[in-house]
Amino acid sequence: MAELLDGWKRTGLCTDYDENSIGEKVVLMGWTSVRRNLGSLIFIDLRDRSGIIQLVFDESTYKGDYEKVESIRSEYVLAVKGKVIKRGGAVNNALKTGKIEIEVEDLKILSEASTPPFEIDNDINVREELRLKYRYLDLRRPKMQQNIMLRSRIVNSVHSFLNDNGFLEIETPILQKSTPEGARDYLVPSRVHEGCFYALPQSPQLFKQILMVSGFDRYYQIARCFRDEDLRADRQPEFTQIDMEMSFVEAEDVMSVTERLIAHVFKEVLGKEIQLPLRRIKYSETMARYGSDKPDTRFGYELCDISDVVKDSGFKVFSGAVASGGSVRAINAKGCASAYSRKEIDALGEFVKTYGAKGLAWMILKEDGTMTSPVAKFLSEDEISGIKAATGAEAGDVLFFVADSNKVVFTALGALRINIAQKMGKIEEGSFDLLWVTEFPQFEYSDEEGRYVAMHHPFTSPMDEDQDLIEKDPGAVRAKAYDIVLNGNELGGGSIRIHDPELQERMFRALGFSKEQAWERFGFLMEAFKYGTPPHGGLAIGLERFAMILGGCDSIRDVTAFPKAQNAMCYMTNAPSLVDDDQLKELHLNVVRDDK
Ligand code: AMO
Ligand code: AMP
Repeated sequence: MAELLDGWKRTGLCTDYDENSIGEKVVLMGWTSVRRNLGSLIFIDLRDRSGIIQLVFDESTYKGDYEKVESIRSEYVLAVKGKVIKRGGAVNNALKTGKIEIEVEDLKILSEASTPPFEIDNDINVREELRLKYRYLDLRRPKMQQNIMLRSRIVNSVHSFLNDNGFLEIETPILQKSTPEGARDYLVPSRVHEGCFYALPQSPQLFKQILMVSGFDRYYQIARCFRDEDLRADRQPEFTQIDMEMSFVEAEDVMSVTERLIAHVFKEVLGKEIQLPLRRIKYSETMARYGSDKPDTRFGYELCDISDVVKDSGFKVFSGAVASGGSVRAINAKGCASAYSRKEIDALGEFVKTYGAKGLAWMILKEDGTMTSPVAKFLSEDEISGIKAATGAEAGDVLFFVADSNKVVFTALGALRINIAQKMGKIEEGSFDLLWVTEFPQFEYSDEEGRYVAMHHPFTSPMDEDQDLIEKDPGAVRAKAYDIVLNGNELGGGSIRIHDPELQERMFRALGFSKEQAWERFGFLMEAFKYGTPPHGGLAIGLERFAMILGGCDSIRDVTAFPKAQNAMCYMTNAPSLVDDDQLKELHLNVVRDDK
């Protein structure tokens, strides 16, 4: 039976007490973690969000009903009154409260509990589906409690920094106009306006720009965003941005505030000092060196362009890639010759294929000066020595090569570099690598759509010196866009915006929108820009990614209280679900079912 509180009030959380509290009378409430029944002595680990404290019920001195104590099972919710005493048994150094225990004098069982489907423990080995179905139990696990508390501390720290730096917190609508450009929109049918839809915001981008037109020159919001895209470890269909926008600024101003914000959070939440200013790497340089626009620079294995050495090679895989406008690049896995077996190297060949590469050529330079390589026989002496010189190869190294379009070469070798570093243990746990990537391309060509699309978004300003190229050579235009990268993850991104309506129209044209299409979608923004628009720019940080990395987690699901599974379902509530025909009718909707 569930007992009532009857006026009992907690004196603190379980781990508020230590050996300095000995003799204190306390009232504690929490869940039954572990129970050990030694007959005349019963020990219970009481758990709350702060951690665990040991309760002891001694049959010879306990004045209450000892049978009730014996009835306690895992996850029962208890309230106890008692006294802090020195631990009778061995000290448990793993616990903050390991030197003490509570000699219980009175007990209430506030709630009984069914046997949970899995143990409430950090080390569980259960399917994620089950964890998500019983998310409330999963969230009771100490590691998950710490993750969620860490996220809350980050949010608090962000609020305090931005409030102290003149930012106003302003909410923007969740029901918005659909302006698809980027991910797919989540749509919400209108009951009042037949056949019309709202969209959930992919980000508050347009509204925050309009707030700049309104004069709120420093805006921020902890904003919920929705994107209907394929899920990954670092992507959820709904997620949270630390979203900022500022007027009368240039890129350096936005970057400076952002990095001070990030350093502030590191200091407050982890007690870590971050050296400012952060490094800045241009997009072209990070691609050439790391094959990635979100480089992890905690280890080497940088890419080396050997196109010039092999462009006339008889090995057509290499020379052909260069001839068709691509490149041949190598990674020198320094000192890894004895670390890789043939089988492992073959597995790396399969690994790079998942990134679009057609193969992985390699050379093992053995300690004894000999070399094994499936491609050496296709290369001349000069080419081999040219490759060695370019990559700085020595005995004991392994060279890996990919020949393809630049895009494939970068993606494949960028991923391979991380794979090698992981195998070789080169990524120090708990280390943080923060940097800016700047001068992103304005456009990238989409084979799928057969047109240029905005690499960041269509409101991003091109660099002043590249404006002439917008029509002539879109691929060469660089943007006033910047990403902040933490440990090889894109933590956030932003840009200086176009604030000139004419330039904005040119941009839409370059993106393949007719004037009518542009006005139909974004007319409200261009109209607003006619009435006095300050130069402005901003950025958004992915809160979950930030919390994931600070918490040392592998997935943003671990820092999201109620995430969606890989298939975009919520296993706890079974959303999305079918709805009544009446609901559909009211919304003027007919569902056309796929016959498949
Ligand atoms: P962007 O699209 O780069 O920029 O998003 C900013 C940051 O949001 C995070 N993020 C995500 N996190 C989890 N799940 C997702 N599906 C997801 N998508 C993005 C990333 C990313 O760096 N309005 C612009 C910002 C601006 O220009 O001010 C924007 O949304 O950490
Ligand atoms: P093949 O002549 O196709 O047997 O290829 C010889 C070697 O070159 C094999 O080790 C392949 O994995 C490798 N290889 C094939 N295509 C590529 C490519 N595009 N880039 C790098 N290596 C490749």
